Amino acid sequence: MSSSTADRVIIFDTTLRDGEQSPGAALNVNEKVEIAHALEELGVDVIEAGFPISSPGDFRAVQRIAQEIRGCVVCGLTRANRQDIDAAAEALRGAAHPRIHTGLGVSDIHIRYKLRTTREEALQRGVEAVRYARQFVEDVQYYTEDAGRADPEYLYRVLEAVIAAGATVVNIPDTTGYTTPDEFGALIQGIVENVDNIYRATISVHCHNDLGLATANTLAAVRQGARQVEVTVNGIGERAGNCSLEEVVMALRTRHDCFGLETGINTRRIYPVSRLVSQLTGIPVQPNKAIVGANAFAHSSGIHQDGVLKERTTYEIINPRDVGVPDSEIILSARSGRHGLRHRLAELGYLLDEEQFEKVYQRFLEVADRKKTVDTRDLEAIVEDEVRMFFEETYHLEQVQVTCGDHSIPTATVRIRGPDGQVYCDADHGTGPVDAVYRAINRVIGEPNELIEFSIQAVTEGIDAVARVTIRIQAEEPVSENGVERRVFSGRGADTDTIVACAKAYMFALNRLIAARREAVKG
Ligand code: KIV
Ligand code: ZN
Repeated sequence: MSSSTADRVIIFDTTLRDGEQSPGAALNVNEKVEIAHALEELGVDVIEAGFPISSPGDFRAVQRIAQEIRGCVVCGLTRANRQDIDAAAEALRGAAHPRIHTGLGVSDIHIRYKLRTTREEALQRGVEAVRYARQFVEDVQYYTEDAGRADPEYLYRVLEAVIAAGATVVNIPDTTGYTTPDEFGALIQGIVENVDNIYRATISVHCHNDLGLATANTLAAVRQGARQVEVTVNGIGERAGNCSLEEVVMALRTRHDCFGLETGINTRRIYPVSRLVSQLTGIPVQPNKAIVGANAFAHSSGIHQDGVLKERTTYEIINPRDVGVPDSEIILSARSGRHGLRHRLAELGYLLDEEQFEKVYQRFLEVADRKKTVDTRDLEAIVEDEVRMFFEETYHLEQVQVTCGDHSIPTATVRIRGPDGQVYCDADHGTGPVDAVYRAINRVIGEPNELIEFSIQAVTEGIDAVARVTIRIQAEEPVSENGVERRVFSGRGADTDTIVACAKAYMFALNRLIAARREAVKG
């Protein structure tokens, strides 16, 4: 449905910038580009693609997204200084609709302790940054960091000055997730009433979730006139995360009677994009997460099940199909054949090329052979495992074999194909089978690292379930001639054999680490 700007809320997605600041979420350039395409298909209006000056990888990601995404505004973050703005302008040069997002702190805490300056100087720096950014692009967004804890009178003055200098959008962040919905709504109302030239800019809000209030605060701001919301898929982001895209979009849609506002989001793409972001960042979605959690539409009590069977709306306010949650009742078997599998994958929104399809089909046959039936969740795990690798695989795990059990020494043997095409075989023992496998892999690959997180999830019910393993490893990366930085790489693997899934997850993380080093050397 088309709608005028007055009754439309602009969705500004910052999954690739603030979301990527989640601990250990680091994405490579190809993964960011993949997510950007998925966001465009989802219908977001603005993609904040990164912080170009922060690293060569971020610069390249913003540059590629700017070149490839034609249907959204592509935005790059900067601090309020010329070098940052130059880098963003350069990265955004190919964009169809470029936006520079610059800004500075406005709370006294930020001005005094972080910026070590005065209110007046900070205001002046902000104005100069906007004027400078306007030399490169027409669309300049200004963030007033920590606005949630700032003196409103000072905030009004800053906003008036940056709008006069040419800011087209003003961002009011609750950077620390400190405010309550009443307070945050009142802050926006105060801006509407006290900033004389506010009608010349769009009010954007950017809420963090430290008190679990990000969605409530965002909606309170929308009620008071904010018309852009800054969100991330699955609510990922710094600390407790950012306001979640799916929650705000579905609140606006489900309670249209309250808000009377539209978004341009194709809600049926919400679930597939949520899965993609979770897989690529390695950040699982909590089961009870609103809209996209595994239990969001599960009814376990008998009374509820009975009610839903009689009439879905007794206990459901959203039809799961409207957010793209697949019907897990549909089951395939080896007899479904290529045609049946292809049809089901298309229904689930997976568009695979021939090579990818063939890989998925072979894995599907293996799983179907072991489990007899393959449901939607198994299929998702297979596709994730087979086709969602956006880096070059340097080492390929060909075989893993383990002996373990009571009164035996857990021992693993692995066969790995290396970059030279040569096959390496090695073995080691450990405190348990997973430890033994990881040690055996280490003997071949020899990349020092520390395993910092390890989780196993059964994809479906039943003893024959596919296991999905997610891990994080930390390794020291050279960042300058003498300096090193500890970086985190996530890995994932799925298999009906849990130990094989663990081995695949480790190989995934190691290959990702090696690919990142290769990219860093290219500069
Ligand atoms: O939380 C925040 O204040 C931010 C700004 C940089 C927009 O992320
Ligand atoms: Zn933020």
